[in-house]
Amino acid sequence: MSEMIIANIGELATPQGTAARRGEAVNELKIIENAAVKIKDERIEKAGPEEEIIPGKDSCTCRIIDARGKAVVPGFVDPHTHFIFAGSRADEFSWRLQGVSYQEIMARGGGIVNTVDDTRQASARKLYSLGRKRLDNMLDLGITTVEGKSGYGLDKETEIRQLEVMKALNRDHPVDVASTFMGAHALPAEYENSSDEFIDFMIEEVLPEVADKNLAEFCDVFCEEKAFSVEESRKMLEAAEKAGLAPKIHADEITPLGGAELAAEVGAVSAEHLLKISPAGIEALSAEDVVAVLLPLTAFSLQEEYAPGRKMIDQNVPVALATDFNPGSCYTQSLPLLIAAACLYMDFTPAEALTAVTLNAAAALNRAEEIGSLEAGKQADMLILDAPSYRHLPYQIGTNLVETVIKKGELI
Ligand code: NIG
Ligand code: FE
Repeated sequence: MSEMIIANIGELATPQGTAARRGEAVNELKIIENAAVKIKDERIEKAGPEEEIIPGKDSCTCRIIDARGKAVVPGFVDPHTHFIFAGSRADEFSWRLQGVSYQEIMARGGGIVNTVDDTRQASARKLYSLGRKRLDNMLDLGITTVEGKSGYGLDKETEIRQLEVMKALNRDHPVDVASTFMGAHALPAEYENSSDEFIDFMIEEVLPEVADKNLAEFCDVFCEEKAFSVEESRKMLEAAEKAGLAPKIHADEITPLGGAELAAEVGAVSAEHLLKISPAGIEALSAEDVVAVLLPLTAFSLQEEYAPGRKMIDQNVPVALATDFNPGSCYTQSLPLLIAAACLYMDFTPAEALTAVTLNAAAALNRAEEIGSLEAGKQADMLILDAPSYRHLPYQIGTNLVETVIKKGELI
């Protein structure tokens, strides 16, 4: 048994509870000055005012970490990434700077399928080492849990390979990896003009192996005009749910196709992107408790309008934020920039942004009972910041303020 105390905390800042925070509640952080956290093995035993946690601090034999007037917050959760891929698409980025749209690039045969070629050719070993390096970067930035999607294989072998690599990384790396099967991410050349057949292939040939080998917790679909229709997305997600995978949707990113409404209809855990969500879509998410996962750095990178995050919070939708790290639309792992963008361009308060990258992001991964806040019983994932308050997270724009990461009670 190991015990550890984080003492002299200048400001402990955390959302509270075991479910996503909605509406005004998102703004209510618990703030304790002169705080301490007691950790026993992998879990938080107590978090609160220092005098309540450690009456006999000086005589305590357990390890004491001195947080010297600094802020302590929950470990960050990044609930939407595509971090297992090979190659890069820097050339496409340059085209976009010259005004070529993301959809036009897809129409030219670029986009996702470009990365598919590189990823199909990459060995498991290669993907593992690329993934491992990216997880190291995430940990430096304070990301202690990440979601990763397949979808750069679009064939059975490579989809399975991507998921197996994520499973191995989850086992070997301190960052927890939640895996999502996203075979319906784009239409590969072999299935041009037959998206029906492709969805059937994913459902009949790939999904059973994903489920049998226990390779994914979630299933995601790119529901979009140039990708999969609402009907095809519904079919894929219903089959996935029968196989034990919880549904997620890339919804209403480029066109308001009704992906948010579909997410509510199928009881999805989350609807993600939502740049073009309709008023009816917002109501549907709010009514059905679907977490909206917003990705402002994708809007930034694509030079698009941001998702109406303020409206969603005001209408009681549980809102999370994620990087969307991927080689095409958003090549960044920068959680610090993500927090700043949400506050500067989407009118989030610093408290709402912190909740969106901790507790609500955990809820988007069905993990709000385990992680996302600093409370007795939760997994001991937390960050000591090189700043006196969590408010410095958006204020020191794009700066990594994470000084120390504690993951499952271990000092990293
Ligand atoms: O979330 N929208 C679909 N998928 C990714 C883009 C993937 C890519 O361009 O490689 C996204 O933005
Ligand atoms: Fe994405």
